[in-house]
Amino acid sequence: MKREASATAHPNIALAKYWGKRPGGANLPAVPSLSVTLAGMETHTRVSFLPGLSRDRLVLGGKDEEGRPLVRATLMLDRVRELSGLSTFAEIVSRNDFPTASGLASSASGFAALAFAALGAAGLAPDGADAAFRERASDLARRASVSAGRSAFGGFVELAAGPAHPEQGMSGDRLVARPLAAPRAFEESLRVLVAVATEGAKAVSSTDGMGRTAKESPYYAAWLEEAPRLHRGLREAVLGGDFEAMGMLAEASALAMHASAVAAGVVYWNGVTLELMRAVREIRARGTAVFFTIDAGPHVKVLARESDAPAALTYLRGVPGVVRVIETRPGRGAELRLESEGARASSALAGEAVS
Ligand code: PMV
Repeated sequence: MKREASATAHPNIALAKYWGKRPGGANLPAVPSLSVTLAGMETHTRVSFLPGLSRDRLVLGGKDEEGRPLVRATLMLDRVRELSGLSTFAEIVSRNDFPTASGLASSASGFAALAFAALGAAGLAPDGADAAFRERASDLARRASVSAGRSAFGGFVELAAGPAHPEQGMSGDRLVARPLAAPRAFEESLRVLVAVATEGAKAVSSTDGMGRTAKESPYYAAWLEEAPRLHRGLREAVLGGDFEAMGMLAEASALAMHASAVAAGVVYWNGVTLELMRAVREIRARGTAVFFTIDAGPHVKVLARESDAPAALTYLRGVPGVVRVIETRPGRGAELRLESEGARASSALAGEAVS
């Protein structure tokens, strides 16, 4: 029988960054992180387990993918086959409405959408089990890309550090993201302006970048010590609805993460990144509370209040070299649509917008 499901997911932007893995190969983060899931950018993925296939197939943005992206997708599908008892291969058809692999968190929304669609297609999304399903999907996505575990949920989301000595193959290596309750007004008035600093794909993947940082950076130990403190501060700022404290700490987390990477020769910034950082500080010096954060790529994400967003947007668009600026706001977690034969017309398992 043909089994098929589709899912959508949004990227998330970490305010308290994850950078560095626990040893042991279970893709467990060495530090806790806190993110906000973004509406306004989306990945759509369809998974079909098809009896005729001789191997898994991945079509990304209309192009057949081989190599690392296919290997990572196949690893996730292998786990779903193990959980479900299915033995057929699958075709994955996925598209983003924003640039892929460029530090715009396409792996977060990509693997979250894939986890939801693959579990749904394999019949592992029982009706009425939304919370348990979402947790299972978060864990599955996190094994492929740590940030993807957070995109299972909407709004502000936390992921703890992995256990220092995970028990391999047991539930000891399970790690699930959790939504963080936040005052509604605070969440509703937050805007994240994504300033795109280049159209091209990034040179160093986040996995390679953090691997090199852990091995070669004299400041990696300092990062491991500082990151939980920044995370605690951010948690308090978000829960307390303190926008300015949140912004300052998000900036500090991004700078500390990049400082540890730069010391290992891992530089994600380009000239436009530096211009954007300068622009954000200039807007702030004039009295408007805006703050930046940067992931494993050159783009700059600017945190602003809703009322300040239009002016900040205009200013950022005028920074030389900026390709475009996308306005986003907190959004929903990943969502699944079941489309198996017979029930193709759609039972929808909608994601909860978390407040
Ligand atoms: O989820 P990964 O393995 O692609 O790593 C993401 C790392 C950062 O985006 C830089 C930080 C984060 O917490 O999302």
